[in-house]
Amino acid sequence: MDCKKLLCFSLLCFSLLPELYGVVWVSVGGGGHRHRHRVRRSGQSLGGGELSDSNPRKLFVFGDSYVDTGNNRKPAAKSWQYPYGITFPGKPTGRFSDGRVLTDYLAKYLRVKSPIAYKWRKVGLGQLKYGMNFAYGGTGVFNTFIMSPNMSTQIDFLQQLIHESTYTAQDLHYSVALISLAGNDYGVYQATDGSAQGWQPFITKVVNQLEVNLRRIHGLGVPKIVVTSLEPLGCLPSSTVASSFHQCNATENLLVNFHNLLLQQSVAKLNSEVKDASASTFILLDLYSSFMAALNNKGDPLGNVKFENPLKPCCVGISSEYACGNVGANGEKKYTICEDPGAAFFWDEVHPSQNGWFAVYSALQANLKQL
Ligand SMILES: *[C@@H]1O[C@H](CO)[C@@H](O)[C@H](O)[C@H]1NC(C)=O
Ligand SMILES: *[C@@H]1O[C@H](CO)[C@@H](O)[C@H](O)[C@H]1NC(C)=O
Repeated sequence: MDCKKLLCFSLLCFSLLPELYGVVWVSVGGGGHRHRHRVRRSGQSLGGGELSDSNPRKLFVFGDSYVDTGNNRKPAAKSWQYPYGITFPGKPTGRFSDGRVLTDYLAKYLRVKSPIAYKWRKVGLGQLKYGMNFAYGGTGVFNTFIMSPNMSTQIDFLQQLIHESTYTAQDLHYSVALISLAGNDYGVYQATDGSAQGWQPFITKVVNQLEVNLRRIHGLGVPKIVVTSLEPLGCLPSSTVASSFHQCNATENLLVNFHNLLLQQSVAKLNSEVKDASASTFILLDLYSSFMAALNNKGDPLGNVKFENPLKPCCVGISSEYACGNVGANGEKKYTICEDPGAAFFWDEVHPSQNGWFAVYSALQANLKQL
């Protein structure tokens, strides 16, 4: 089974490394002291939901490894093993990166702490005010062959917390949802019964289900919903390894373009269904263009970070079956790590590095103004 295109790839490969670290890392940037979103928009009642330091804007996160900040199983998930997290904070935190991921940068933008992972909701009570992260690496809108909750189930979790009054309607009043669907459904399709003719109907099915999910999150009372477009799958190292990391796979990127076109139509439709059309409720976060900008410019728009060969991942398996983090029976490494992870756009076969995410986030600034 070809699971190399799968964002859950890392999860399938178990390691003998012991679980070394159990530290919960939730605080990133921001500081949570200043709020640019205090301003009351006309027509909005304040209720008890006014933003303050004790009641900051909340971020709810759904999806996969591009936004997961620790929900996956310890220690089986790669995100909980060396060398994940080596850049920041210096040990694994459950993120599929050498450091921060998209969620952390969006939280920074909102000036709140990166929201606590759902699995720690009982121990991190003080953190609940920043929202919650329901995302699990490896998941999709449909069941992938990972035993992790699909997006519908992740939304059930929020619904349950609302039902239990962990979050009230007032809490949700200024909240933002971030939804990442980075391609696991397609990885499974390709690895299992996928036929070439079946791609278009399957993509349509995936986007339709995503639309149902987005509508449901809005129905729970979340007023701003940010959904990522699909990144250029044909430019992920799992694809470009075929050209020794020199060329994106154009065939795959064409399928990605079809997904993104349908998603754009869904988002327009969802916005047209909202009664108060004065502000955009559903926002498409253009990962495709921002990945492409970072890859083409070999860095971020301001030149703060630079990538030598942006298609080449930092942490790379020494043979085609090996992936970042894999070890042999005696603990010997089956991968190599580059000297400077800061100079790599991609961290592993499918995930950007912290600086990769920083470049993507920088390229998204105009897009984020819609928030
Ligand atoms: C999500 O997972 C649940 C539990 O496995 C399943 O009942 C449901 O059908 C799944 N939803 C979709 C859209 O595949
Ligand atoms: C590009 O991707 C397609 C679909 O996965 C595959 O059939 C094709 O061999 C790839 N092309 C190259 C040049 O790797």
